Amino acid sequence: MPKHPPENPPDAFRVSRRAFLKTVGVGAAATGLVAAGSRPAEATILGPDAVPISLTINGATQMLTVEPRVTLLRALRNHLGLTGAKEVCERGACGGCTVLFDGEPICACLMLAVDAVGHEITTVEGLGSPEQLSPVQAAFVECDALQCGFCTPGFVVASTALLKHNPHPSLEEIKAGLAGNLCRCGTYSRIFEAVQKAAQQRG
Ligand code: FES
Ligand code: FES
Repeated sequence: MPKHPPENPPDAFRVSRRAFLKTVGVGAAATGLVAAGSRPAEATILGPDAVPISLTINGATQMLTVEPRVTLLRALRNHLGLTGAKEVCERGACGGCTVLFDGEPICACLMLAVDAVGHEITTVEGLGSPEQLSPVQAAFVECDALQCGFCTPGFVVASTALLKHNPHPSLEEIKAGLAGNLCRCGTYSRIFEAVQKAAQQRG
């Protein structure tokens, strides 16, 4: 199931942000980050204006300019045109925004884009293509495991991570592994069937 993003941001931000909190106060921290590698006394506050960052998305480096408050989900959708991850609850409750963060499923709505610097992000677009679907994507199509389809990208990404860790899950393990993803249309039985089919096809 998609997890909340790791509490520790990349090294580039971790030390300096802590120092920032100590030196200039929590109120200012809500609107700024501190440049990588800078010493507390010389800290450069980033934001609230947009700052340039580079993210590794689906194996490619993407340059973008975002305000530090922008979530990874909005950076993907609004800045990079990757709309596979869906914006639904924006509070980590539905799994519609699931992406892989260094191979592990997370809710992209709960992570700041600046905290994704230095990590590998994989979206549903990076798992396969219309011409060459991934095994999980193909199984969802074969099993007709969707109705409106809004939850489907999140389920596909979460299922991919599930099968990486457990190539032959039982039905109960599939249910538990996908418990963080919600389908308002109630397509669960076909989704579980698709995951079982993908597991079989992967051998
Ligand atoms: S939109 Fe991120 S968990 Fe619902
Ligand atoms: S297929 Fe409609 S929300 Fe899941």
